[in-house]
Amino acid sequence: MLEIKNLTCHYGVIRALHDISMTIPDDGIFAVIGANGAGKTTLINSIAGLVTPTEGSINFNGTEITELHTKDVIRNGIALCPEGRRVFKSISVYENLVAGAYIMKDKKRVEENIEEVFRLFPRLKEREKQLAGTLSGGEQQMLAVGRALMTDPKLLLLDEPSMGLAPNLIDFVFETMERIHKELHIPIIVVEQNSEMALSVADYAYVLEVGEMTLQGTGQELLESDEVKNKYLGA
Ligand SMILES: Nc1ncnc2c1ncn2[C@@H]1O[C@H](COP(=O)(O)OP(=O)(O)O)[C@@H](O)[C@H]1O
Ligand SMILES: [Mg+2]
Repeated sequence: MLEIKNLTCHYGVIRALHDISMTIPDDGIFAVIGANGAGKTTLINSIAGLVTPTEGSINFNGTEITELHTKDVIRNGIALCPEGRRVFKSISVYENLVAGAYIMKDKKRVEENIEEVFRLFPRLKEREKQLAGTLSGGEQQMLAVGRALMTDPKLLLLDEPSMGLAPNLIDFVFETMERIHKELHIPIIVVEQNSEMALSVADYAYVLEVGEMTLQGTGQELLESDEVKNKYLGA
């Protein structure tokens, strides 16, 4: 279980998040929606140890992770698939997956995880020797998700996985999320500007507005909320 209490984050004098609290249980898909600049990436990056909060705490399965560096956050079982995918373009698909497992000591486990990623994304298996920079946007997204899965996460953070993808691939991204949750039993926090898709797969969701959490509820409740419809669903 991930417990965020009264989290506030600044970049210099800019306050990007204010007094955010949320509890993420061990099972489910959780969405965070909000406009550009609302603080979604800051929230995800503070969980992943890339942004140090100015106030508040983050606790994961009983361990205080607020001040931990990313490497130690990963060791505690949290994996991040960052905004913009950020695959290593000049090395192969296979090497990207090995690189993703850099904290893993058990080499046999690394090979098993690569097989698991290839089972989830047969397309990556077909392209395992290809340089990641030559993959399409959708394939790079698969690789970024696969790379995040290499560390046996107990919680997966996805930052805007559908960004910049063609509509048919957007469906695939959301289907993949549901498969990861169902087949690998990993809870997911997904940040998205594609609010309708995110809410339709989310068990529970949060709305961020200029750094504040303004609404929360089940995905269905938020899909039916007039405020969400007006601001985020273009209805
Ligand atoms: N590295 C940074 N330095 C200064 N300001 C930043 C930085 N990253 C984000 N911000 C600001 O923090 C706020 C939240 O940004 P971000 O978390 O990226 O929002 P979102 O992911 O919802 O688009 C915005 O006002 C943004 O301009
Ligand atoms: Mg962002």
